[in-house]
Amino acid sequence: MLSKTISLFALCAGAMLGPWGAAGHAEQLSGAYIATTADCAACHTDGKNGTPFAGGYAITSPMGSIIASNITPSKEFGIGDYSLRDFSRAVREGVRKDGAHLYPAMPYPAYSKMSDADIAALYDYFMNDVAPVDVAAPQTDLPFPFSVRMSMAGWNLLYGGGAPLVDDPAQSPEWNRGRYLVEGPAHCGTCHTPRNLLMGSKTSAFLAGGAVGPWFAPNLTPGAGGLSDWSDADLSAYLSTGVAEHARASGPMAEAVEFSLQHLNDSDIAAIVTYLRTVPAQDTAQADTASMPDIAAFVPADHSANRSRHTLADDASGAQLYETVCASCHGLSGQGSADGTYPALTGNVTLEPAQSYNLISTILDGVSRTVDGHETLMPAFHEGSLVQPLSDDQVATVASYVSTKFGTEPADITAQEVATVRTGGPVALLVKMAAPGVMAAIGAALVLILAGLAVMLWRRKRSR
Ligand code: HEC
Ligand code: HEC
Ligand code: HEC
Repeated sequence: MLSKTISLFALCAGAMLGPWGAAGHAEQLSGAYIATTADCAACHTDGKNGTPFAGGYAITSPMGSIIASNITPSKEFGIGDYSLRDFSRAVREGVRKDGAHLYPAMPYPAYSKMSDADIAALYDYFMNDVAPVDVAAPQTDLPFPFSVRMSMAGWNLLYGGGAPLVDDPAQSPEWNRGRYLVEGPAHCGTCHTPRNLLMGSKTSAFLAGGAVGPWFAPNLTPGAGGLSDWSDADLSAYLSTGVAEHARASGPMAEAVEFSLQHLNDSDIAAIVTYLRTVPAQDTAQADTASMPDIAAFVPADHSANRSRHTLADDASGAQLYETVCASCHGLSGQGSADGTYPALTGNVTLEPAQSYNLISTILDGVSRTVDGHETLMPAFHEGSLVQPLSDDQVATVASYVSTKFGTEPADITAQEVATVRTGGPVALLVKMAAPGVMAAIGAALVLILAGLAVMLWRRKRSR
């Protein structure tokens, strides 16, 4: 209901807009529409029934849960006493009014590219059109050394983003608008660009594909494993509805479509497509997830999911599992339903090797996406599933079966991979180093290194 209110705002805003003018976006867009392009509601609203912008939504990061703040204009619990300058600093530089550093779960490195005019319009919207909510959002509580917010100061110098984008006069207004949306407010790279050991975006591999907890945000460049096979029409349809011929948006991408992209006007979607066609081609590295350290040591051996109350035989084959739990919707030969409500699995991108985590996550979490008031649902098969809880072994067996049978290459998805996805995805090296035992020593060293770097870079900047 409340997300609908936001959508309505956005729709009204969208309806009043024509295509952007001569420069990337010469006409000033409404703050409500900008908030939609930047998907502020996705994180700052707690679930579909939460109060808009009252915070409380926990974002799982490799370091633990980071809770989004109340950003309503409540003076006591929100950002009611933020000036435009304070607001701009928080959104583009990741620094709160009280001077504390925000964690980059708030995508300020991308928002740093937003224009002054858009930030001013956003500020105006939050201060005047959003209702104050006088309720405190829960506090973020990360383990040491990540609890030291100061360490983000060093991180920011390395990965904190840059200055607002300046239009490239050699390119069309559409291209400039597309670049602005992709790199700035719509922050596609936050998920689709791989991260390095310190969790900074690898700018040299822009949009080459990155891990998002238990999901994998695929390669969006024109390179191998990227979007070169996608027609413009398919790509626009996927972005604005979540449905394309060989792909459907699930997980975090379903949220991006539901809360943000479906409300963008056609010219903005077209601009995104135009720009994506021109980003440097990158070949899909065998999923960034694969280069993550071995997580075996961090997944409890007696993983409770293996004690699920399934009624299927423990040694059921892939074909048996598929026929019992999947075929009623996806068809015995993976053909899907004639009207497309249940997608065909044959030729589906989710069965490509680089997307094995998305296949596992789709089976465990199901799909839930509301577009244009219409809800698309696939049941979840995780531990608490009312339909049919599946064990790690069963998920691995059925996932390998569908990939091999309906995909392009034989696959051997293991129960260990399923356990990794079930516990929130691979653990980054940075966090692994912070595991008990190694933590104190290396964690402290890391903070020192970051602090050292910060001082070095700061000096270098100043001496210029
Ligand atoms: C991907 C999730 C995400 C998105 C999208 C997002 N935020 Fe945030 N934001 C967060 C998190 C998480 C925090 C708290 C981080 C922390 O505690 O270090 C935060 C903190 C903030 C703060 C600091 C408030 C305070 O005093 O604590 C402001 C202001 C803010 N966000 C505004 C925005 C605006 C405006 C947008 C849209 C342009 C936006 N955010 C989009 C996750 C997000
Ligand atoms: C919050 C993280 C997140 C953000 C932000 C995000 N994506 Fe995604 N995206 C994903 C994930 C995860 C998937 C895989 C979803 C699936 O398999 O259903 C995905 C899938 C896609 C796909 C399908 C690719 C394929 O080969 O299957 C396209 C196209 C895409 N995203 C484009 C975009 C664009 C363009 C933006 C910015 C406007 C964007 N995404 C923003 C996480 C994100
Ligand atoms: C009750 C019907 C139903 C059952 C049972 C079901 N699915 Fe689905 N499945 C769906 C729907 C609906 C979607 C989402 C379609 C969309 O996103 O537009 C979906 C989506 C998917 C996708 C994602 C396609 C994409 O492009 O991202 C995969 C993969 C998948 N299902 C595999 C399975 C497997 C494997 C099983 C059995 C373990 C299963 N499904 C059981 C209805 C079902």
